[in-house]
Amino acid sequence: MEKLQNTYKVVSNEKLCPRFYRMCINAPSIKKNVKPGQFIHIRVEDGLQPFFRRPFSVYRADKYVEIFYEVVGPGTGILAEKVKGDVLDIVGPVGTPFVLPSEKTKQVVMVAGGIGVAPFLILSDVLKKRKLDLVLLYGGRTKGHVYPMKEFKANGCKVMVATDDGSVGTKGRVTQLFSKIKMDPATTEIYTCGPNPMMAAVQDFAKKNNIKGQAACEEVMACALGACLGCSIKTTSGYKTVCYDGPVFDLAEVIF
Ligand SMILES: Cc1cc2nc3c(=O)[nH]c(=O)nc-3n(C[C@H](O)[C@H](O)[C@H](O)COP(=O)(O)OP(=O)(O)OC[C@H]3O[C@@H](n4cnc5c(N)ncnc54)[C@H](O)[C@@H]3O)c2cc1C
Ligand code: FES
Repeated sequence: MEKLQNTYKVVSNEKLCPRFYRMCINAPSIKKNVKPGQFIHIRVEDGLQPFFRRPFSVYRADKYVEIFYEVVGPGTGILAEKVKGDVLDIVGPVGTPFVLPSEKTKQVVMVAGGIGVAPFLILSDVLKKRKLDLVLLYGGRTKGHVYPMKEFKANGCKVMVATDDGSVGTKGRVTQLFSKIKMDPATTEIYTCGPNPMMAAVQDFAKKNNIKGQAACEEVMACALGACLGCSIKTTSGYKTVCYDGPVFDLAEVIF
C-alpha cells in the first residue's frame, strides 16, 4: 500500500497575478490516486511556525500535481516563496471527492467564488471526456480575484464571470449568472465551491429549482484525518468533518 504521507519536490511555483499562485509538484503517487474534489495537506515549513499543515485542493493532476492558491496569511506566504527543487512534506490525497454526474446528466454547472475555483479544473479534465454541457460561473470581488480561464475553455467549458465592481464580466453576484443559462432540473447538476454566503445562495437556488448539487466546503483544519473534529460543520444529519466526511457534501445537506 502506498504511503499517504511523503516528501515531494516542487517543480515550479508561478505568480499568476497579484493574488494567485500556481505550484507544480512532482508527486506521482498523489497524481495516480487523486480524484476531483480531494485535497492535499502540506507542511509548508520544517519548524514549528506554522504548526499545522495547510489544505489545498488538487487543481490538476496531469504531468504533475498542481495547486492554485491565494496568499492570505503566513502559511500561504511561505508557500509562495518556494522554488524549484524545494521539498514539501505532504499528506494526501485526502477527503471525499465529488460524485461524478449520473448517466442521465447532460449539463454540469460549476459555481465558483474566488479561489473556490480550485477543485474545478481537475473536475473538468475528467468530465471533458463525456459529452456534457460544461458551464463555469465564476465570481470574485474585482478583476484581480478572477483568473483568466483559458484552461477551462480548452476543456470545453462555457465560462461566465461576475465581479462585485463590474471590472470584468457582469456587475454583481455570481448567482446572478444563473439567469443567463438554461437549466433542466432533470438533467442538470450543480457543483459549487467558495465563500459560505455564496454557497448558501447557490443552495437556495438549487432547492427552489429542484436541481441536484454538491458543495466543496472549507474549514480551518488541524489533523485532516477525521480525528480532532476541529473542522466539523453543521449538516442536516448532525455535525460532520470537512476533512474526512467532506470536503464534498450533498449541497442540500450543508447548513451554511
Ligand atoms: C479542503 C480545503 C481545500 C482548500 N483549497 C484551497 C486551494 O485550493 N487554494 C487556496 O488558496 N486555498 C485553499 N484552501 C484554504 C487554505 O487552506 C487557507 O487559505 C490556508 O490554510 C491559509 O493559511 P495561511 O497560514 O496562509 O493563513 P491563515 O493565517 O491560516 O488564515 C488567513 C485567514 O484565512 C482564514 N482561513 C484560513 N483557512 C481557512 C479556510 N479553510 N476556510 C476559510 N477561511 C480560512 C483564517 O481564518 C484567516 O482569517 C482550502 C481549504 C480547505 C479546507
Ligand atoms: S481537521 Fe481534524 S477532524 Fe478535520
